[in-house]
Amino acid sequence: MIPSLLPQVLGVIYSLSLLCLIPTVNGWIQYASTGTATLTHYDLPQGYIAACGCTGASTKYPTAAMSQMAYGSSTAYGPGCGRCFNLTLLNTYTPDPPYFPTVTKSVVIKVTDLCPAGGNGWCSATADKPNQGGQFINFDLSWPSPSIPDDFFPSNVSFYGYADFGVWNVSYESVSCLQDWEGAKDKAALGSVDDGSSVCCPAEPTGSANDTCPSYSDQNGIPPDTTTSDASLLQAISIPYPIISTSLLFLVFLA
Ligand SMILES: *[C@@H]1O[C@H](CO)[C@@H](O)[C@H](O)[C@H]1NC(C)=O
Ligand SMILES: *[C@@H]1O[C@H](CO)[C@@H](O)[C@H](O)[C@H]1NC(C)=O
Ligand SMILES: *[C@@H]1O[C@H](CO)[C@@H](O)[C@H](O)[C@H]1NC(C)=O
Ligand SMILES: *[C@@H]1O[C@H](CO)[C@@H](O)[C@H](O)[C@H]1NC(C)=O
Repeated sequence: MIPSLLPQVLGVIYSLSLLCLIPTVNGWIQYASTGTATLTHYDLPQGYIAACGCTGASTKYPTAAMSQMAYGSSTAYGPGCGRCFNLTLLNTYTPDPPYFPTVTKSVVIKVTDLCPAGGNGWCSATADKPNQGGQFINFDLSWPSPSIPDDFFPSNVSFYGYADFGVWNVSYESVSCLQDWEGAKDKAALGSVDDGSSVCCPAEPTGSANDTCPSYSDQNGIPPDTTTSDASLLQAISIPYPIISTSLLFLVFLA
């Protein structure tokens, strides 16, 4: 190929790829860049490649799954993939009385996984109906994690009789992954190195079509799956094999 034609050819391919971004399913939750949310935690094995297809290296740093209707896809990758948020613990309210920590704890996470909606689970908010904590977003923190202290969640065992409250009220703020995420200097963890396993894990998604994942389920006409009731114990979604080649094409534009 004549090198000078390359930009035009890529431009045409890119325009064609944009056609795939036209949503066919509505109802995703639009959220502000700052607000409050609920926070749960789940076990994500080290090195695991979760729904976004970020490389296994991402598990060395703080990551989280995002609730389905805010994440923007009911399977595989979605617009939430790769975004970074500063999460600050505010209080817990499932115990009586509610618990307000005496210290302020925050963590900057990168979204690498989908937290499926279903039943009354914490990840089941829809655009019309918040979750049982009154929030439209739930972050499911991968914890324990080598990058987050084991005593990250404050507790008061002598009063409550247990340490893990399970769910927290948090404030969230959309932040720059490149500036603020602990894995920012690790290109593989950021998603900007393709080792053959990365599917759609932009280093710094801004919401623009050129740097943000499309919704896999919109592209494929898959409706949100809200039928299961097991939303607290998450299984990371396995990526259907045939999509990897088209996604690699997408990664070309992120590079
Ligand atoms: C635990 O809760 C009790 C009752 O509210 C309070 O008196 C005590 O100071 C708390 N301890 C800590 C470490 O927060
Ligand atoms: C969560 O925190 C916000 C901000 O402090 C507060 O307005 C809201 O009532 C809290 N929600 C619960 C359920 O505690
Ligand atoms: C995260 O939020 C906490 C609490 O507001 C703040 O102290 C910290 O500087 C924030 N971190 C980033 C990277 O924005
Ligand atoms: C995507 O487009 C925005 C706005 O046009 C631009 O600022 C940004 O640099 C682009 N990102 C990439 C990765 O090309």
